[in-house]
Amino acid sequence: MLQGKEILLGVSGGIAAYKSVLLLRELTKQGANVNVIMTQSATEFVGPLTFQTLSGNPVTTDIFTLFASSEIGHVALASRADLLVIAPATANIIGKIANGIADDFLSTMVMATRVPVLFAPAMNTNMWASLVVQKNIANLKEMNYHFMEPAEGELACGVIGRGKLADIDAIMDEIKALLSPDDLKGEKILISAGPTEEAIDPARCLTNRSSGKMGYNLAAVARRRGAEVILVAGPSAEFETWGIEVVHCNTAIEMANAIDANLEGVTSVIMAAAVADFRPAKQASEKIKRDGNYSLELEPNPDILAGLGRRSDKPFLVGFAAETSKLLAHAKDKIKRKNLDMIVANDVTAPGAGFVVDTNIIKIIDRDGQMTDFPLMSKEKVAGVILDHIIKLKNQRRLRGPVS
Ligand code: CTP
Repeated sequence: MLQGKEILLGVSGGIAAYKSVLLLRELTKQGANVNVIMTQSATEFVGPLTFQTLSGNPVTTDIFTLFASSEIGHVALASRADLLVIAPATANIIGKIANGIADDFLSTMVMATRVPVLFAPAMNTNMWASLVVQKNIANLKEMNYHFMEPAEGELACGVIGRGKLADIDAIMDEIKALLSPDDLKGEKILISAGPTEEAIDPARCLTNRSSGKMGYNLAAVARRRGAEVILVAGPSAEFETWGIEVVHCNTAIEMANAIDANLEGVTSVIMAAAVADFRPAKQASEKIKRDGNYSLELEPNPDILAGLGRRSDKPFLVGFAAETSKLLAHAKDKIKRKNLDMIVANDVTAPGAGFVVDTNIIKIIDRDGQMTDFPLMSKEKVAGVILDHIIKLKNQRRLRGPVS
């Protein structure tokens, strides 16, 4: 989604300046054209040549380079850019901008630009906690500047506390959020993700190959587009997205309870989780010993989606159909059986589709039996088309009026 975007990356002088090299790499890898502006003190930490080489663009370090004719185009970027991100943002640059001081190129640019500005602060814990920094940030937020919360951990000075530059992934997410349309504003979407785990004994469990990638991508993209998101997730190695409330669970029953407890005000539920249909009828309290033949008795788990479909206050319901054969027939049957509004069907045996990979091939089927086919796409793009479809179907319904 960053293809063709113009990003200005401001780097101020802190030890975390080296991390903005990683941010630059990620931005360019995802298709953005990045122009870097460094403060003088930032150049003490990382050489401008590093940023110049990786961005493929000249780096501005000094207000006086404005007078070099070759740099004039760079100035015009302040109005042409899509977003300006300052990472790391030191207490000094935050203080200058909050108080209207424009004495270097970066602070001048921030004052001159009308594009969204995102600060990713990084500083010593006590500086971060100081009243003056917090007051400056509160003032800037009031003026519509955007802020990342710094992370907690061991800082360069050896102190443990808040003040580390936020994770690059989190900054990337926020950049994408600021560049996305707010077309899901007002929606509260509950998304389930990942597998469930049903214990057999303290060491073993029944589970499946779901990685959680589809649900986590849906949650990230929905938040970016302005939705309030609750992610109910089974065990998954996926990283949490900044700004999303995650409710962790293991078993299908725990997932059902977690969903139930978080339904207040939810307008749509997307059940991307691969819920185990069965659980061991008995759970051994001790590790089962290898001793001749062993058979496992199973009992059914609740069907969470079908339960939601039976509610009188049913939210807009999206189910997944991970099939290995007769994909369409099964998907259509599932819509009826579980009273769904829409189903996302994928053949988990197709190359590039299914559980562990980063891509998926889906078909979307709605209650009217309309089916839309999509090509192989990244799970991030798939998340986008699923959310587009939810908006489309909800709008159609609004136009049609209530069904009698
Ligand atoms: N699902 C659920 N609770 C379960 C099992 C599945 O909520 N106990 C949801 C999944 O999250 C998914 C949808 O139901 O959105 C379809 O899952 P699947 O296991 O393919 O559906 P089943 O109805 O179990 O179909 P099948 O007849 O293929 O077993």
